Amino acid sequence: MDIREVGVVGCGLMGSGIAQVAAVSGFPTIVVEANRELSDRGMANIAKRLERLVEKGSLSAGEHAAVRQRLRAGTELSQLAQCDLVIEAITEDAEEKCKFWRTLDPLLRPDAIRASNTSSVSITRMMMATSRPERFLGMHFFNPVPVMTLVELVKTLATDAEVYESAVRFTQKLGKTAVHTTDRPGFIVNRLLVPYLTDAIRALEEGAGSISDIDCAMKLGCNHPMGPFVLMDYIGLDTMYFIANILFEEFREPRFAPPGLLKRLVIAGRLGRKSGKGFYDYFDPASPVPLDQSERL
Ligand code: 3HC
Repeated sequence: MDIREVGVVGCGLMGSGIAQVAAVSGFPTIVVEANRELSDRGMANIAKRLERLVEKGSLSAGEHAAVRQRLRAGTELSQLAQCDLVIEAITEDAEEKCKFWRTLDPLLRPDAIRASNTSSVSITRMMMATSRPERFLGMHFFNPVPVMTLVELVKTLATDAEVYESAVRFTQKLGKTAVHTTDRPGFIVNRLLVPYLTDAIRALEEGAGSISDIDCAMKLGCNHPMGPFVLMDYIGLDTMYFIANILFEEFREPRFAPPGLLKRLVIAGRLGRKSGKGFYDYFDPASPVPLDQSERL
């Protein structure tokens, strides 16, 4: 099946990135949010990013106008009725997602491909909330979506080979690389990344180095674009805590358990960049201050 028209549900960080990339890649795209305010906010973020691409010369004025025409916003799920592929990027909550799929499923074309951008909720559980498990798969994008070139394609026991192949071709048309994975917590990237990041917290607590030394060590010593604490603040500490818990519940190994410090930061509302404080204080976003300099963690 050739994917022509794309629907995205959720216009937050991930949904807005996916919708932007789909529209820039030539797909008529509709992005649906729960209400007008959220929709306007997400679309304004996309507009800003597109303008930056024009300023940098990565998008011509003509292409910019065409992308704006291809990209529509809406607040009604019925607006997704004609889409060949619908990618859900709503809040990362298993109950919410299953409830959402039960509502959306009957509004879609029977042959539409149903995909979730979840990083941690079971694809199998969501697919069972629909009438078409064989047309369901996971499409896990990475943040920031316009820059990161990987998509994890998650096949379940039920996903049709033809559906999976359509998703591979679509991913290639977005200029991204697909890796094949199965429906296990963390898929590939978070299964490896999250224990590494939480281990950095343990290294901090054991006194291996300060936040900035550990970040500097991994940036310069391994050529990572961000050290582990900067990256955790970027991902969001609540998201980190959530994924670590899911991995621990599945594998029951101490190395997957979220450290106490991560839990305390989340309870205290220090969620990273988005809340202004995490392992760093972003009072001046241009020069974040590591928290172990100013207070005992
Ligand atoms: N949206 C769109 N474009 C962005 C952007 C954003 N949010 N942030 C940066 N960019 C673009 C910039 O415009 C710039 O483009 P250009 O080269 O064409 O001018 C390019 O990215 C580089 O940006 P900067 O020069 O401002 O900054 P950096 O060189 O430090 O790059 C970064 C920023 C791309 C975020 C880089 O630091 C990076 O790759 N960090 C690691 C990100 C990562 O690991 N993401 C995965 C997180 S895990 C995940 O998503 C899974 C989930 O399930 C938890």
